[in-house]
Amino acid sequence: MRIDIMTLFPEMIEAVMRESIIGRAQDKGLVEVRATNIRDYALDKHRKADDAPYGGGRGQVMLAEPLYLCHQALCGGEKVHTVFLSAQGKPFDQQKARDLLAKERFILVCGHYEGIDQRFIDECVDEEISIGDFVLTGGEIPAMAVADAVCRMVPGVLPDEDAFTAESHWDGLLEHPHYTRPENWRGRAVPEVLLSGHHLNIESWRREMSLRRTKADRPDLFAQFTPADKRDRKLLDKIEQPDG
Ligand SMILES: C[S@@+](CC[C@H](N)C(=O)[O-])C[C@H]1O[C@@H](n2cnc3c(N)ncnc32)[C@H](O)[C@@H]1O
Repeated sequence: MRIDIMTLFPEMIEAVMRESIIGRAQDKGLVEVRATNIRDYALDKHRKADDAPYGGGRGQVMLAEPLYLCHQALCGGEKVHTVFLSAQGKPFDQQKARDLLAKERFILVCGHYEGIDQRFIDECVDEEISIGDFVLTGGEIPAMAVADAVCRMVPGVLPDEDAFTAESHWDGLLEHPHYTRPENWRGRAVPEVLLSGHHLNIESWRREMSLRRTKADRPDLFAQFTPADKRDRKLLDKIEQPDG
């Protein structure tokens, strides 16, 4: 998997993506996350990459030409799927992360200031992705969120597939709660079943917690959930009871 991130602040990306699990995956050659400075493609000696908006108003807009030249250099004559991180984009989710994983290579473009010249978007961008209904100062944090979500699904990055298929959002549910030592922490005990060693009961309790949490905290997801099997249907019946 190779992800190129076009940015005015490559150090931000490098500092984060060289750490922890994704950093180790890069060292092993499983993924490659490269930050390229758009300013390196500026045309003047001041390396200008933004200008005042036509029509007036506040802020600066990133220039189309340095973006275009940077994009051309990264593509090297090939068509590479290109995503602009934008507060106006489609909401990012696990399914979108899976779609990007299937591409094997893609480019993420980070805006800054007021955003980027629309003509670059029209010319080079395949899709716009938002990480939520709020506005950040730049696309760097969203780009890293997208890169991280995709890279952790690359085979070998996590110890096994279960590490991400058993987690929140994979099957439309939130994950069950987790506990570790000690058994009693400040008067709060670990649920008995987790100490029982009875794997089937533990699995069933976790699934039930997962369903309950999703119902309570994300009714939107719960409404779309289809039971995977008989066991799910039984658990759903249980939690739908008035005293359930
Ligand atoms: C200050 S924002 C520009 C906001 C833009 N003027 C608007 O009203 O939609 C600067 C850059 O941050 C990035 N950005 C901000 N919020 C984002 C979000 N929720 N998701 C993805 N990218 C975001 C985009 O790349 C954007 O071009």
